[in-house]
Amino acid sequence: MPGLAIIGAQFGDEGKGKIVDFLAEDADAIVRFNGGNNAGHTVKIGEKEFKQHLLPSGVFHRGKVNLIASNVVINPKVMISEIESLRKNGVTLNPKNLRVDLRAHLIMPWHILQEGGGNSAKIGTTQRGIGPCYEDKAARTGIRFEDLLSSASLTDKIKAQYERKVKALTGMGIRLPMDFSFASVLSEYLAYSRVLKGFAADVSMELNEINAQKKNILYEGAQGVFLDNNFGTYPYVTSSNCISASAAVSCGVAPSFITKSEGVVKAYTTRVGNGIFPTEIEGELGGEIRMMGKEFGTTTGRARRIGWLDLPMLRTSIMLNGFSGMHLTKMDVLGGLKEIKVATHYQSKGKTLTHFPADTNSRNNLTPVYKTFKGFEAQNWKKVANAGKKIKLKALPKEALAFLKFVEKELDVPFVSVSVGPERNEIIFLR
Ligand code: IMP
Repeated sequence: MPGLAIIGAQFGDEGKGKIVDFLAEDADAIVRFNGGNNAGHTVKIGEKEFKQHLLPSGVFHRGKVNLIASNVVINPKVMISEIESLRKNGVTLNPKNLRVDLRAHLIMPWHILQEGGGNSAKIGTTQRGIGPCYEDKAARTGIRFEDLLSSASLTDKIKAQYERKVKALTGMGIRLPMDFSFASVLSEYLAYSRVLKGFAADVSMELNEINAQKKNILYEGAQGVFLDNNFGTYPYVTSSNCISASAAVSCGVAPSFITKSEGVVKAYTTRVGNGIFPTEIEGELGGEIRMMGKEFGTTTGRARRIGWLDLPMLRTSIMLNGFSGMHLTKMDVLGGLKEIKVATHYQSKGKTLTHFPADTNSRNNLTPVYKTFKGFEAQNWKKVANAGKKIKLKALPKEALAFLKFVEKELDVPFVSVSVGPERNEIIFLR
């Protein structure tokens, strides 16, 4: 492995959690490097389904080090509740196996209130205070995980922000909740600091030490390439960077540490929130795939928009991330459809485009050109998986194999796994 980045190649929700959980078996350390609790990673182990938003997806394996890097924004309440909920399910997290970078910024109650309307409603954000927290970080007024280490420092930092934030929020016409007094915000965060301060660490230094010991590090991305703040469908993007190179920036390691990057690709495309979606399927068929794929946001419960697989987007993803392999997820969901489409390129103002255009104007004038594949019968993969033997690629119907072969050839990057269900044993591994 030595340093493997796992990146969502589309608009997020590709199934990264499941792939990271699977690959974590071979890793010594798993580090989450961007976003916050806007993410939603679902991992199914036996009959139990775990929905996490903040903690790395490696936490289900014993003996691993789980790290959260500097560019992740931390909602302390969510962090405590995820630790607690995992504890109830037999997963014990403590400062020995989970650490957060001292430089990570904290989501404060005002960040969540700030997100009520305006631009965030236009974008369709998750309303978790993610954008406003990154705004304060860029403005150099944020409060960091290191501030949880000292009550005096935390008090000073909250004091320095509180009046200004109350003024800004009331100026925006936002009604403040009852428990928003300075004393109650302070006592809430002092209580969080008592629980969380032991988890603070210099994650950059640790990763450098782990790397020096030639151990394996898995860099876990959140969201997806087209939500990246630089390279996504701006302004309909998130506030952090999601591509593989940003893992080095957030983790405080040299880019050369990340020796490999692999993309997670859903067999079709989904998007939550607003913004361009060239291959979106309107009407009944979109609804049918949504139901079959249970395409409702893990974080907000919103219905995800559905579209066909989009090769120009994936070519751009491969270019931006240097994927040497791809994990195809939710192949089973396409079972039962009469036909399956793949956008091979776009037509735009008389031109053929093989990649996703950089400028908004061109993006608004895209006509996808499709190749249509014959559908294949839905299979009971759970039964096959539970029969005890590993599922082999050749078990897939020939129509599904033709689809896979075509996509792989067009993109010139091999699939390293194909998922046919939500559980660990429903992954066909091809490495
Ligand atoms: P924010 O990250 O809450 O600011 O939301 C910005 C955009 O990114 C919205 O369209 C969200 O729906 C989308 N988004 C944020 N996190 C995720 C994710 O983990 N999966 C899918 N979409 C996401």
